[in-house]
Amino acid sequence: MKRRAFIKTTTLTGLGITSIGLLSSQGKMLFDNNLKVNGLRIEDRIKELAKFGQDENGHGYRVAYTKGDIEGRAWFMQLMKNAGLNPSIDSGGNIIGKRKGKNPLLKPIAFGSHIDMVPDGGNYDGTLGSISALEVIEILNENSVITDHPLEVIIFGNEEGGTIGSKAITSGLTKAGLEQKSQSGLTMAEGIRAIGGNPDNIPLSIRNKGDIKAFLELHIEQGGILEKENVQIGVVEGIVGIVHWEVIVEGFANHAGSTPMNMRQDALLAASQFINAVNEVINSVKGSQVGTVGKIAVQPGAYNVIPGKVLMGLEIRDLSAEKIEKLFLEIEKRAAKIASSSKTTFRFERQPNPSKPALTDKILQQTINKTAKSLGFTTKFMQSGAGHDAQHMAMIAPVAMIFVPSLGGISHSYNEFTKTEDMTNGANVLLQTILSVDKG
Ligand code: GLV
Ligand code: MN
Ligand code: MN
Repeated sequence: MKRRAFIKTTTLTGLGITSIGLLSSQGKMLFDNNLKVNGLRIEDRIKELAKFGQDENGHGYRVAYTKGDIEGRAWFMQLMKNAGLNPSIDSGGNIIGKRKGKNPLLKPIAFGSHIDMVPDGGNYDGTLGSISALEVIEILNENSVITDHPLEVIIFGNEEGGTIGSKAITSGLTKAGLEQKSQSGLTMAEGIRAIGGNPDNIPLSIRNKGDIKAFLELHIEQGGILEKENVQIGVVEGIVGIVHWEVIVEGFANHAGSTPMNMRQDALLAASQFINAVNEVINSVKGSQVGTVGKIAVQPGAYNVIPGKVLMGLEIRDLSAEKIEKLFLEIEKRAAKIASSSKTTFRFERQPNPSKPALTDKILQQTINKTAKSLGFTTKFMQSGAGHDAQHMAMIAPVAMIFVPSLGGISHSYNEFTKTEDMTNGANVLLQTILSVDKG
């Protein structure tokens, strides 16, 4: 860490604001403010939010549209109210808080993330970006700083179940998308209603290209690269596209004792060959593409019955939408071969609410990189293998993402952890990047 000295520089009369300059060890001016987030408050709020929606094992269950999500959102909205953000819920179920700028004609700078989680999820995915967005507002309030641009804190609804809130904001939701069952058991439409949105009025939540000056999201890396390379801040260049298919394998359920091995139509046996084939296809080409069969259900599911039907969830991710489609075609071909040799059938149902890959804005990437370096942090440009609301916001605004290390690269798990120091670093980069974007 560089040694720094603080000097008083200006007094902004009229606003009664004192601006303090931050000097590097070389005496070079870094920022014309000395604002710093309160890392302990971030940590406390992460812990506080983690209390909502725990399962019987004390693990997180703030799955979108469930009781924990609803209660966590209410808690968060109260904090936003206390911070003067006057939060409201749009038709898609997103919580939006606004802070006036000096110039109401300027487009708002937006930032935020999500507070819903996967089943048995961790306490940092989405929550860090959400709580840090609020922290930025608290620090500006405490220091009586008014930005030129209006500011918006956005807490997106149901990120984990298909970035539903950010899709509602950027492109609306399709009928099929609204009818899709969410992890909570409710359809997306029912879930949106449960969190205070209005699925009948989704177009009202749509923001147009140019409505927002920039969107920034701080997030944990969710992988192990930053920790392994001992880097403090990741500057995200691109976010992967994600497509899901329900795979239905049908064989014939029959007696497991009296049906000889050569007379079976075992759907689970075919499914197991399929899972292996997915892995082979994904690994057959160079690149960072990933493919996963992440869920499976067997019918009828008994010791003594040959499985007649299997339902699986297939997911493919890559930075190229074209590559995802090519890989899927290859997987379909392999499935046809398995079907023919196992006397089963394979059917693929492409799921609604896919996510397109997105690139972040090059100028914002540089702003984050410079800001982080000025604060004395090491940086790395990197891809995001996880999906994020920012990738949809990229359709209507320049976006950027700041990553901080995840301990052991563990995420979507109860064991997810990010050190307070790393969260604080990321939040300080977020704060200074917002102020830098504000100055244009
Ligand atoms: C969201 O976290 C995802 O990448 O699935
Ligand atoms: Mn997330
Ligand atoms: Mn996640």
